Amino acid sequence: MTTLLDFFEDTNIIKNGEVFDLRYVPRHFYIRKEMHRIAENIKMFIKYGIPEHIYLSGKPGSGKTASIKYLQREAEMRGFNLGFYYVSGREYNTKYKIMARICGFERSIDPNKVHDEFFRRVKGKAIIVLDEADLVSPRELNDVCFMFSRWGEAVEVANDSVVLLILIGCNVNLTKSLEPSVFSSLHPKFVFYGSYKKEELFEILRLRAKEGLHDGGWSDEMLEEIAAVCAEEYLGDARFAILALRELAVNSEFRGLDRIEGDIEGAFVKAAENVLIATLSGLGSHELLILYSACRTPEDDRTIGAIRRMYEFACSCAGVKPVKKSKFYEVVHALDRLNVVSTAGKAKAGRGRPLNYVMPLVDEDLTIRYVEGMFDGLRKGLSWG
Ligand SMILES: Nc1ncnc2c1ncn2[C@@H]1O[C@H](COP(=O)(O)OP(=O)(O)OP(=O)(O)O)[C@@H](O)[C@H]1O
Ligand SMILES: [Mg+2]
Repeated sequence: MTTLLDFFEDTNIIKNGEVFDLRYVPRHFYIRKEMHRIAENIKMFIKYGIPEHIYLSGKPGSGKTASIKYLQREAEMRGFNLGFYYVSGREYNTKYKIMARICGFERSIDPNKVHDEFFRRVKGKAIIVLDEADLVSPRELNDVCFMFSRWGEAVEVANDSVVLLILIGCNVNLTKSLEPSVFSSLHPKFVFYGSYKKEELFEILRLRAKEGLHDGGWSDEMLEEIAAVCAEEYLGDARFAILALRELAVNSEFRGLDRIEGDIEGAFVKAAENVLIATLSGLGSHELLILYSACRTPEDDRTIGAIRRMYEFACSCAGVKPVKKSKFYEVVHALDRLNVVSTAGKAKAGRGRPLNYVMPLVDEDLTIRYVEGMFDGLRKGLSWG
């Protein structure tokens, strides 16, 4: 008997769909040449305990997160006597939250407890990775870097403990926002990942295909085409290539084919939607409403004042209490750090860098549809307004 939810018993193309999840760290990784410089630092640290801190910067989808996770897995597999802690500034965006995360605390806990536990836990040789460091506010990032740059001098630190800090971020100038004294004592080595070229994307796709697809279900020619479109039209961001391949594989599987076929450009459009939706789903209510308001404000009038008026109106339609002015500016700066808007301007307004104009950097129609789907009343209210 067949039922509506029957699965395909045999798959012709997809062997393991998990391999196409963006968080998946493949067994066979494409080692980009800059990874050797990071590995050298880690080896020096393991062998001699000399921490030469690193700032790893680069384009979105250039493999920053994946390559560090790959090195972490290798270090763990080798069984080195080493603590390896990974924290993302997207969720843990203050010094306190970062320390709590390293301690393994999930809920908010008395700060004194966090402090004591942190200095107790980080002992011996420890590598601390702070990913998405651009999303930590500059003041907090400065405090975190200060702590690690003066590690040996802090009274609480266990005698034998040494820490190697690996900061990761998209903004190449991130460490310039540190106080000069903190920057000079941290003295991070700068490693930059440029966008992938088509040959590199092909290699990344080939390794994924070997791991996640059945032999015969894919061809080098198809992967070459995907790699070329990604390099030429999607800034060499590997996320788009991997998701486009997944899209093509799933569609071909559902059509009952034994080999991947289909419209590559269409698969990229779908991949881009998925990347944007993943970004939007990581934003809070006010971040979404402010981004939405920027998309809804006429293009020639995207001043901070006009967007704030639109935001207050959007909040009233959505039945949400708007945030105060200073918080509004903070959220706009956070959206800028997330690279979903670009801010520019000369007029002094609010805290931090002066800003005047706010331009969305996302697909505006899709963002509007997504946010309207999240808040009842928004669509109706704004089309009447
Ligand atoms: N060298 C590589 N070998 C295998 N897979 C890779 C490689 N580089 C990137 N990828 C894959 O491409 C995707 C994007 O990589 P990753 O998330 O590491 O980029 P990122 O530089 O951290 O981007 P972001 O700035 O958006 O955080 C991931 O699924 C990752 O596994
Ligand atoms: Mg990353």
